[in-house]
Amino acid sequence: MSSSQPIAVFDSGLGGLTVVKALQKNLPNESIIYFGDTARVPYGNKSQNLIQEYGKEITEFLIKKGAKAVIVACNTASALALPLLKNIFDIPIIGVISPGAEMAYSVTRSKKIGIIGTLATIQSKAYEMALQNLDNTIQTKAKACPLFVPLVEEGWLIGEVPAQIAETYLSELIDNGIDTLILGCTHYPLLIPVLEKVVGNRIRIVDSAETTAKYTADLLKNLNLLTDNTTDGGLENYVTDLPVRFKQVARRFLGREIDHVSPVHLG
Ligand code: DGL
Repeated sequence: MSSSQPIAVFDSGLGGLTVVKALQKNLPNESIIYFGDTARVPYGNKSQNLIQEYGKEITEFLIKKGAKAVIVACNTASALALPLLKNIFDIPIIGVISPGAEMAYSVTRSKKIGIIGTLATIQSKAYEMALQNLDNTIQTKAKACPLFVPLVEEGWLIGEVPAQIAETYLSELIDNGIDTLILGCTHYPLLIPVLEKVVGNRIRIVDSAETTAKYTADLLKNLNLLTDNTTDGGLENYVTDLPVRFKQVARRFLGREIDHVSPVHLG
């Protein structure tokens, strides 16, 4: 394994780009490969077996592309497939749930934490378990928000429709007195402007992208795998469907032009 190899990041679609953005900020010289499984998004209403199967296929693909580490930038795949992937593959595989839980624990005062995510992530109770391991006096309230992922994939990020949907999903959590809200899906940070309006400024929104990027930086440093490159590392993208649409929404989100998007057929 060489430090000049790329860091790979995958998600069911566009959501993992929130982690790419944080990586580009924290580790600008690292080459990044992004994989969006746009043909099979959403993962959030699929079974554990299927998500594990997808995770294996994608990780194999990314290792063949030369990845020195793989970030599972998808809460659903982190919740349901991370232990399996870590068992099978012998390169560092990093999930987003522990970094998100740790970040939430560090900011909560009331120890009442709300969690939103896909149906699969919420049913897995992965965040509750991660938070209980940190402190068993933490109280949690979780809510699945299945309409958020299609909104993001459609690039429908502002306006009345996302605001009304967010109000409907979040009212229970707000009434519960939470002071911290974990965005337990990597798609959701794209909706932060709408979510902030709905929850108000007394609730702190936590997304795991930044902490995951920092965790990755520390891990690679400890393994002596940080690149020696001193220029912009670049981003290469692979998607399983609709590369042109991916390019449009990705450019809007990352705030820069996306040059390389290649279609891939898996399975
Ligand atoms: N962005 C992913 C997550 O963090 C998956 C969303 C989906 O495909 O349903 O859970």
